[in-house]
Amino acid sequence: MSDDVLIRCRSLTRTYRRGEVEITPLKDLDLDIDRGEFLALMGPSGSGKTTLLNLLGGIDRPTSGSLHVDGEAVHTLSRSALAAWRARTIGYIFQLYNLVPVLTAYENVELPLLLRPLNRRQRHERVASALDLVGLADRHDHTPRQLSGGQEQRVAIARAIVTEPRLLLADEPTGDLDRESAEQVMNLLDRLNTELGQTIVMVTHDVKIAARSHRTLLLEKGKLVTEVVP
Ligand SMILES: Nc1ncnc2c1ncn2[C@@H]1O[C@H](COP(=O)(O)OP(=O)(O)O)[C@@H](O)[C@H]1O
Ligand SMILES: [Mg+2]
Repeated sequence: MSDDVLIRCRSLTRTYRRGEVEITPLKDLDLDIDRGEFLALMGPSGSGKTTLLNLLGGIDRPTSGSLHVDGEAVHTLSRSALAAWRARTIGYIFQLYNLVPVLTAYENVELPLLLRPLNRRQRHERVASALDLVGLADRHDHTPRQLSGGQEQRVAIARAIVTEPRLLLADEPTGDLDRESAEQVMNLLDRLNTELGQTIVMVTHDVKIAARSHRTLLLEKGKLVTEVVP
């Protein structure tokens, strides 16, 4: 595997069985993603985008095929090893932010660090710099209800990057935002990619949003159909 490749999928397949019915949202997918790449995934609803993202992030496991991330054979990990791998490798951003409503912005960003052998002061440094990076240094004590959607998503991004993940996954991160907030979130993802070299895989329905990535892939019925190189 070349040093430039961070993610390698081979014949990646996920089948769900519900009673007698089998569906295969992802079928025999081959894909390489480079270190430092900003990749967009598009495709109609139900085409397997979230399924793919969940496999890449170790939230779900493939039925068959292989997934290597940074040389590690992720498809061979046990459930508990996968959870530990995910916590140290992946940052995940969701369309609806998924912040804990009773915690402040600071506490939400601190959460993933509680699994680490860091003391309170070390955690504080990391949380403060992540909130600073997303432009919310003055919102530490706000709960999600006291923030706008765009601000909530920026807290969610701070939470995703505070562990310095090797891979940042975003599932329609601007899907619920107005134009201006979406623009701010995209500017932030751009900066994470260009200034910090963060590898990003992002699902989006919006061609203008996708155009800000390096490469856009189109999924249809669980298969890659075209590769749009701008
Ligand atoms: N946990 C699951 N159990 C059963 N079917 C699922 C599950 N997750 C996704 N699916 C099905 O897989 C297909 C692809 O879903 P998904 O990857 O969420 O599509 P997309 O994100 O492109 O809209 C859909 O038909 C969906 O209903
Ligand atoms: Mg989806």
